[in-house]
Amino acid sequence: MRQINQTFTMTYDFPVCFDRGTLKPDNTLLVDILTRAGDGPHRVLPVIDDEVLKGNPDLLTQLREYAKHHGEHLSLIEPPLMVRGGEISKSDPKEVDEFYQRTQTDRIDRHSFALVIGGGAVIDAMGYAAATAHRGIRLIRMPTTVLAQNDAGIGVKNAINYRGRKNYLGTFATPFAVLNDFELLDSLPERERVAGMAEAVKVALIRDGEFFNWLYEARDRLAAFEPEAMEYMIIRCAELHLEHIRTSGDPFEQGSARPLDFGHWCAHRLEELSGSELRHGEAVAIGIALDSLYSHARGSIDTPTLARIRATLEGVGFSLSHPALDALDVELALQEFREHLGGRLCITLLLAAGKAEEVDHIDLAIMQDCRRRLLEDAWPL
Ligand SMILES: NC(=O)c1ccc[n+]([C@@H]2O[C@H](COP(=O)([O-])OP(=O)(O)OC[C@H]3O[C@@H](n4cnc5c(N)ncnc54)[C@H](O)[C@@H]3O)[C@@H](O)[C@H]2O)c1
Ligand SMILES: [Zn+2]
Repeated sequence: MRQINQTFTMTYDFPVCFDRGTLKPDNTLLVDILTRAGDGPHRVLPVIDDEVLKGNPDLLTQLREYAKHHGEHLSLIEPPLMVRGGEISKSDPKEVDEFYQRTQTDRIDRHSFALVIGGGAVIDAMGYAAATAHRGIRLIRMPTTVLAQNDAGIGVKNAINYRGRKNYLGTFATPFAVLNDFELLDSLPERERVAGMAEAVKVALIRDGEFFNWLYEARDRLAAFEPEAMEYMIIRCAELHLEHIRTSGDPFEQGSARPLDFGHWCAHRLEELSGSELRHGEAVAIGIALDSLYSHARGSIDTPTLARIRATLEGVGFSLSHPALDALDVELALQEFREHLGGRLCITLLLAAGKAEEVDHIDLAIMQDCRRRLLEDAWPL
């Protein structure tokens, strides 16, 4: 027998930037990012969510003007690849296939860039395509929803759906850079803006009590999408997610613990039960409410804390009672979540606003009672 133990480590390093007006000719952020890979000119394929273009009809002109202005560093590959926005881009293989085709017809290689401008779904699908074509083309993400800027677009995962199974195919792949432009949120429908705030409440509740207090105090300003409040909420939420990926010791999720999945075990199921009528963030808000009610029922958070969680979620615009809760089979949903984690149940519960613990057992009778209370709007407050 002969065994060679192969061990090596690799450092990942990518900037996550927050700015406004990134495609104005005098803004050098994008060029600064590109030139991290040398002076160029770098070939860049723009990949654009069609709903973002509808909401920002000048986007292509802006991009072309920008490329003209910075021609010594940036060469745009024309025409841009347009992608249908939303979950269809992950469910229909057509979108990913078109990306692969463009890499062939335009001779896009591992040194070229894909610049993906879109919501979390388009970023997931095109991130998957970019990670698998040539085993990885450089990816710059420009997330255009609140959820994509504070969570989905800043991490290390991508995925597409396969035969109705959400996120079944995917890779862990770091982007070259993430460029969050707050101005792109201006065209986002209100419902999507609210939905993205659930992840901020989630990460605050498990990690940062001070941030939770801030969200509670700022709930009216957030409900009115006041830019200063929205920007702080997005940056702090992104920071906490990035910190987790950087410091958890498990950036590529090889273990069972998923603290960032607080409120998510039933959220995925509620999304399915609602026939995708519920947005991911809306389902997460309900999931946070359910697991907060359960944390309260087992005595690990007090009544004023529970009341503040409810006030924050409802205050920013979520509605927490939904008919899908009626159809939720708690036992089945927990079982599916356990399988998803790889065999061992690991549910995050609250010990305080800002402090969480992992448990491997849920009392079904208590959870059922919490589900009923949420559905019937009968909180123990
Ligand atoms: N990879 C990850 O780590 C991760 C994490 C969380 C969620 N996700 C995935 O993210 C997806 C959800 O992303 P989302 O919440 O951003 O929704 P989305 O991408 O589905 O976008 C919602 C809708 O808004 C449109 N849109 C996007 N930006 C717009 C803009 N600026 N103006 C006008 N319309 C715009 C989209 O075309 C779409 O129709 C899900 O598929 C989920 O699985 C991935
Ligand atoms: Zn989520």
